[in-house]
Amino acid sequence: MSSTEQTVFRLTAFNGFDNLKPFREPIPTPSAGEVLVKVRSVALNYRDVAIAKSTYPSTIKDNVIPCNDMAGEVVAIGPTTELFKSTFAVGDAVLAPIVPSSFLYGSIDKRPDAVDWTWGSRVEDGVLREYIAIPAHVLIKLPPCKAPRDFVQWAATPCTVTTVWNAFYGNAPLKPGDTVLVLGTGGVSITALILAKAAGATTIVTSSSDKKLEFVRTRLGADYGINYKTTPDWAAEVQRLTNGKGADHVIEVGGPGTMHQSLAAAGRGGLITMIGFLAQNPEDQTPDVIMTALIKGLIIRGITGGSKQQLEEAVRFMSARKLELPVDKVFAFERDEIIAALKHVESGSHIGKVCITVG
Ligand SMILES: NC(=O)c1ccc[n+]([C@@H]2O[C@H](COP(=O)([O-])OP(=O)(O)OC[C@H]3O[C@@H](n4cnc5c(N)ncnc54)[C@H](OP(=O)(O)O)[C@@H]3O)[C@@H](O)[C@H]2O)c1
Repeated sequence: MSSTEQTVFRLTAFNGFDNLKPFREPIPTPSAGEVLVKVRSVALNYRDVAIAKSTYPSTIKDNVIPCNDMAGEVVAIGPTTELFKSTFAVGDAVLAPIVPSSFLYGSIDKRPDAVDWTWGSRVEDGVLREYIAIPAHVLIKLPPCKAPRDFVQWAATPCTVTTVWNAFYGNAPLKPGDTVLVLGTGGVSITALILAKAAGATTIVTSSSDKKLEFVRTRLGADYGINYKTTPDWAAEVQRLTNGKGADHVIEVGGPGTMHQSLAAAGRGGLITMIGFLAQNPEDQTPDVIMTALIKGLIIRGITGGSKQQLEEAVRFMSARKLELPVDKVFAFERDEIIAALKHVESGSHIGKVCITVG
């Protein structure tokens, strides 16, 4: 490292992307138990758009460094870090879990202390910077990353992969032969498609775009696609495609605007995982959750991310099966480019993930 300073981006206010500003700040020195990580790639999530525009359902730290997902390389190891049973060496490729301070192992369902202390939100600064010092025990070692593209691929994983792994295996586990319904073609949903296919599930994807449906069927192996604009009663189509059985798992990212259809699309004993809030309900149509859940014996489970352990399990699975998430577009580590990346996510024109190459 030639310089003692790095570029970090901070959100100086929360009413739009223009508040994203670069700053020159010291490169941290890793303390005992920490390693210094050179951030190589960062991925965006819808959450980062919502935080910048004050639509995220949580308070955010002032002047926060945004973003949650990064893959990087260990460049220095703090004093006595080996005493913390760290197995990291300079040059190792690493991934950080999404709730670094409070939620490493176990199930969030039984952990009232596993609060939303994700990177770049309420308490912790995020990863949109060149260097970050992180306690070694929270990091996950990746298979060797030989090319910059490998860092982009892994940076795309933490938020959506942890969330989807939690949705599929945190409660009633996904089984081969199950039918999985994913809503739209954004980061969470495409991650769910990739992991569900690899687990031997039948997959149904909804989208506003026939072009995107064509892509997920021909390139990503989705079994069925339904255009939710031209087929507003897409639940009936799910029932038809499954011969009246319905979906065993619904990856619910729409929230108020899609829940009534998700309830109708779910099969008996199905699990609807409540993940997102992308779709507002203009008619304020209240879904009949109580009677539908009762009659169908549904499990309706809300989740917020997941643990380091869940990400670790998913990384092992993805490495073994050589699974990759589709990265729609990669932007540069410059203010205008990062704002363009946020606008790209906001537009919803992407399929899968949007990343930033840091260096
Ligand atoms: N609870 C958690 O732990 C957790 C974790 C991660 C994300 N989230 C939340 O999950 C949601 C998705 O996040 P993301 O990063 O995947 O977002 P994203 O990548 O921005 O997803 C955008 C896509 O969502 C689809 N969409 C929008 N409105 C829809 C509707 N009415 N019906 C079906 N699909 C619709 C669109 O797909 P088409 O263009 O194909 O129509 C759009 O392209 C967000 O609300 C996010 O905050 C929650």
